[in-house]
Amino acid sequence: MTPDLFADQPIDATTEILSEGGVVLRQFATAQGPDLLSEIEQITAAAPLRHMKTPGGHSMSVAMSCCGSWGWVTDARGYRYQAEDPCCGALWPAMPSAFTNLARSAAFAAGYSEFTPDSCLINRYEPGAKMGLHQDKNERDLSQPIVSVSLGLSQVFQFGGLTRSERPKNIPLGHGDVVVWGGPSRLRYHGVLTLKAGAHPLTGASRYNLTFRCAC
Ligand code: SIN
Ligand code: FE2
Repeated sequence: MTPDLFADQPIDATTEILSEGGVVLRQFATAQGPDLLSEIEQITAAAPLRHMKTPGGHSMSVAMSCCGSWGWVTDARGYRYQAEDPCCGALWPAMPSAFTNLARSAAFAAGYSEFTPDSCLINRYEPGAKMGLHQDKNERDLSQPIVSVSLGLSQVFQFGGLTRSERPKNIPLGHGDVVVWGGPSRLRYHGVLTLKAGAHPLTGASRYNLTFRCAC
């Protein structure tokens, strides 16, 4: 899959180019916020949000769950995708069609046709939670982009380079903003700064992030 950023899509005020292959689609998912949150509620009733441990034994500040054919997990054995939720051995909940459609249409708007995610990581940040700079590189097919949807409180997203030492851009992401990165940007370092306390009408004191990927 090749990024075809400028081909068919009008670049309007709601699209911000971050890099070759990386864009922010401002408010792309805002109208679907209530539906997406009710899907998150159903998924996390079956596969509860939990603070996973890094391979080094640290508890992550962000609470995570997954849906789709493959869920991303971390524990003492390392980072990986697996079909079962380690908490109970059941398959992860299916990816709701509202999720798949949103991820596909955001990828398309960013110039990536035919994105079909098989994995969605659900991150919930509460005040004090953050995610350090990292690359998403546990996926088998790096020709597919990443689609990352923000819901609820605003949080500063960091979008860096292909090396950890490159200074990242700080990009505040609000409710409904979607970031898509792929092609030459697929392995860019990224993370989020510490969430500040606040109140959002749909999510209260939290921010959710949905990360869609082709894992396997
Ligand atoms: C991630 O990289 O998994 C999360 C990024 C975000 O929360 O915006
Ligand atoms: Fe990531």
